[in-house]
Amino acid sequence: MLKEAAHLRGILKGLNGRGYKAYKKLEGEYEFSWYHLSIDHVQGDPFASPSRFTLIVPIEKTGIPKALFSNKRRNIALCDFLARSFKKETERFSGRCGTGHSCQIYIEAGRQEILERNSVVLNGNNLEVRFFVGLPAHGRSILANKAEEVIFHHIPSIAERGLVYKNLNKRQIEEHVYSYEDQEILRQRLSELNIVSFIREGAILPRKSGVEDRPLKGAIPFVCPKELKIEIELPYRGRVSGMGIPVGVTLIVGGGFHGKSTLLQAIERGVYSHIPGDGREYVVTDPRALKIRAEDGRSVVKVDISPFINNLPLGKDTSSFFTENASGSTSQAANIIEALEIGARVLLIDEDTSATNFMIRDKRMQSLVKKEKEPISPFIDKVGQLYREFGVSTILVMGGCGDYFDIADTVIMMDSYRPYVVTEMAREIARKYSTGRINEGGEKFGSIRQRKPLPESFNPIRSEKVKIEAKGLKTIIFGRQVIDLSALEQLVDIGQTRAIGYLINYYAKKYLKNTNSLKDGLEKTMADIEKYGLDIVLPYRIGNLARPRIEELAGAINRLRSLKIR
Ligand SMILES: Nc1ncnc2c1ncn2[C@@H]1O[C@H](COP(=O)(O)OP(=O)(O)OP(=O)(O)O)[C@@H](O)[C@H]1O
Ligand SMILES: [Mg+2]
Repeated sequence: MLKEAAHLRGILKGLNGRGYKAYKKLEGEYEFSWYHLSIDHVQGDPFASPSRFTLIVPIEKTGIPKALFSNKRRNIALCDFLARSFKKETERFSGRCGTGHSCQIYIEAGRQEILERNSVVLNGNNLEVRFFVGLPAHGRSILANKAEEVIFHHIPSIAERGLVYKNLNKRQIEEHVYSYEDQEILRQRLSELNIVSFIREGAILPRKSGVEDRPLKGAIPFVCPKELKIEIELPYRGRVSGMGIPVGVTLIVGGGFHGKSTLLQAIERGVYSHIPGDGREYVVTDPRALKIRAEDGRSVVKVDISPFINNLPLGKDTSSFFTENASGSTSQAANIIEALEIGARVLLIDEDTSATNFMIRDKRMQSLVKKEKEPISPFIDKVGQLYREFGVSTILVMGGCGDYFDIADTVIMMDSYRPYVVTEMAREIARKYSTGRINEGGEKFGSIRQRKPLPESFNPIRSEKVKIEAKGLKTIIFGRQVIDLSALEQLVDIGQTRAIGYLINYYAKKYLKNTNSLKDGLEKTMADIEKYGLDIVLPYRIGNLARPRIEELAGAINRLRSLKIR
């Protein structure tokens, strides 16, 4: 039931000095001058996760022009922008007082990527802003004056400055929304252009450091080689030119430290759209591109890795390969097969994080270790089949082995951070110096089998409660298990990690039984998210989720150690 803000002030006054639990009385929705404030859930004590607040306002009251949310893409980008501007203001007003999280105000907002998230959502006419507030206490007794300051001064100021159009930077908000829309349109157009990735002329690819995703200052801007230059007309930005990486097999070669991995990493992240100023705006990749790496130690459950691996010692079956502790080569093979199973269209592979014996087997090794003694059919003999038979392209960083020249459709050489197209030269060299290798790939790639998980795979219960939680970006606690996502390099936001945890449960409850394969069930799960939004995964309102891709969702399930396959 809706109550007056004055009523809230009245309750607060009566709470001063009382035990923290009395704050529970605040739960409810209150009418402020231009918005409603809903106190959805009050924390149990000052050290517990902060209380959940939602600010609800009819969008027209913010004065934001309709054009900025007139379609779904714009809606996503606008909400992303508002979460950031709200966050910026919380940083101004959020303070520390008393014990625990007292006086802290916090909202989830994105970093370099623009993602669909549920901290700010625009449902029909209403803008909802979900954030967290540490209700103030001294020890465990309520500090009502401080709470009043937070609710009646700080939050209104944050809302006023962070959400009201006349206080926002109009050029910034437009750029944010329209460049996002442009990038999404560009991503959709890649397939009609027969390219898997587009790297804008002048883009800044390198990052500040390995742990800091902002652009490197003083970096050399991307220069597009004329052979691969493409020009595209986009609604907002107009004509944009850049390098189009064609479908098929592409090699990125070049000397050490010349920028190969940096280029591949930018391509990996191109499955997301970036904020203005990131440097990777309009660096856009097929949304179904997946980074593949070796991941020894992972578990693998009944994956048919026989296209790559056969005749393991002790007669271990590779058409339904099971291990609690995969090796370098078998983990990389499983990662590829699982990617194909879920429908990936492009594989992104870096020699830096690959198993060498999975990637290559040269003439000398073929002579010393006979085929009968080597379980692996190396990737070099399979990568062409992947494109010919399934239309799956590969972009491969390979500075160490020229044997790949024989099968590459396009060869890009990085030289002092600048790309050159050297396909012809590489072909010429391949003609001149034969590798002498015997192709070990067989006639066909082999078939991709769809697997169906069993219900007992998924148990989110721990101590009689559902326990699903993200512990940092790359770890999910699922019931009594820990899922290690550190090999999923395209996971970028902890909100995605949380959402994946809940989505596993959602899939297990809603679609597992009545679908025939993991792929089918997860596609239906993702279709629900597309249709109804992220909120459907939880029974209560909490704005800390961001939308993951189906690839990472499947990746988490595939790494669940309790996974059982029919
Ligand atoms: N355009 C650029 N301008 C400035 N520095 C860059 C640029 N591109 C990459 N770098 C920096 O150069 C360094 C080497 O880049 P990168 O790791 O991509 O090299 P690499 O070719 O993959 O090397 P290796 O063969 O040893 O794996 C990194 O520190 C990276 O941040
Ligand atoms: Mg490298």
